Amino acid sequence: MIGTMGFDVAGKRVLITGASSGIGAALAEGFAERGATVGICARRADRLADVLARCQAHVPTSRSWVVDLAEPEQVDRLAARAVDELGGVDVLVNNAGIPLRRHVTRLDPAAVERAIAVNYLSPVRLTLALLPHLISRPSARIVNVSSISATLSSPGEAAYDASKAALTAFSEAMAVDLWETAVEVLVVYPGLIDTELFAVPDNDPVATDMAPLPVGDLVTAVFDALDRGTHQVYVPDWFQEIAAGKAANVDGYLAGAAQYLRER
Ligand SMILES: NC(=O)c1ccc[n+]([C@@H]2O[C@H](COP(=O)([O-])OP(=O)(O)OC[C@H]3O[C@@H](n4cnc5c(N)ncnc54)[C@H](OP(=O)(O)O)[C@@H]3O)[C@@H](O)[C@H]2O)c1
Repeated sequence: MIGTMGFDVAGKRVLITGASSGIGAALAEGFAERGATVGICARRADRLADVLARCQAHVPTSRSWVVDLAEPEQVDRLAARAVDELGGVDVLVNNAGIPLRRHVTRLDPAAVERAIAVNYLSPVRLTLALLPHLISRPSARIVNVSSISATLSSPGEAAYDASKAALTAFSEAMAVDLWETAVEVLVVYPGLIDTELFAVPDNDPVATDMAPLPVGDLVTAVFDALDRGTHQVYVPDWFQEIAAGKAANVDGYLAGAAQYLRER
């Protein structure tokens, strides 16, 4: 469907993955503050409980489930429980993700497979499980949290970049497949947002000196994008120009990226 303006979040039922910290936790609170019933999931039960308490202060019927999304059967069970226990799902936010900052010469196939499983296969599986239900709703949204790495192919993160590029391509093709339905798709491209993603062990340091943005900036941008009915949002927005510049001159972009790493 061509971007429908003015998506009203109040009263909607929203399933958000990876909501025990960072972007997912902030989005969950944002939806609850706006009057949505939220269903949140992640692996860390204690952190999830804290976020749930903050959401329930706004909407007491909000729920949480402790889930490892790397396990396909847990993804399927989550989809069924969310529909049953929330009384339906109008918005699916595929946010859970893991970093994999590792030079390509030190990458091993098992780490690559895990990044693809959590960052790509799991959101796709959850989407497919919920799609018939979402299509049956009067108005629904799928929000997929990708990364600027999907379009900028950040060095030192080849496998992570690929997992997010796959999610982006899937999301855009799905948006067109669903054009005549009431399900719209939004792809979110965070740049550098201040979260625990950069403290996950067994990852190289971040290869930029850029200061991270507060997570609140991303939340504001996502709700603005939902309201405008656009299909993509970059945070910060100027990353969209960098992505366009790269697409117009890949040779120049790759040489520039190598020079930046050499000189920093
Ligand atoms: N921060 C940034 O600058 C940035 C940039 C680009 C893209 N992103 C994307 O934004 C999303 C959110 O990340 P964040 O920055 O908010 O980092 P974060 O604070 O580390 O959040 C990641 C979330 O994903 C959950 N998660 C990870 N593996 C999981 C699994 N197997 N099963 C269930 N939940 C799992 C984590 O919960 P548990 O550990 O409790 O399971 C946590 O709630 C990710 O997809 C990330 O790739 C972030």
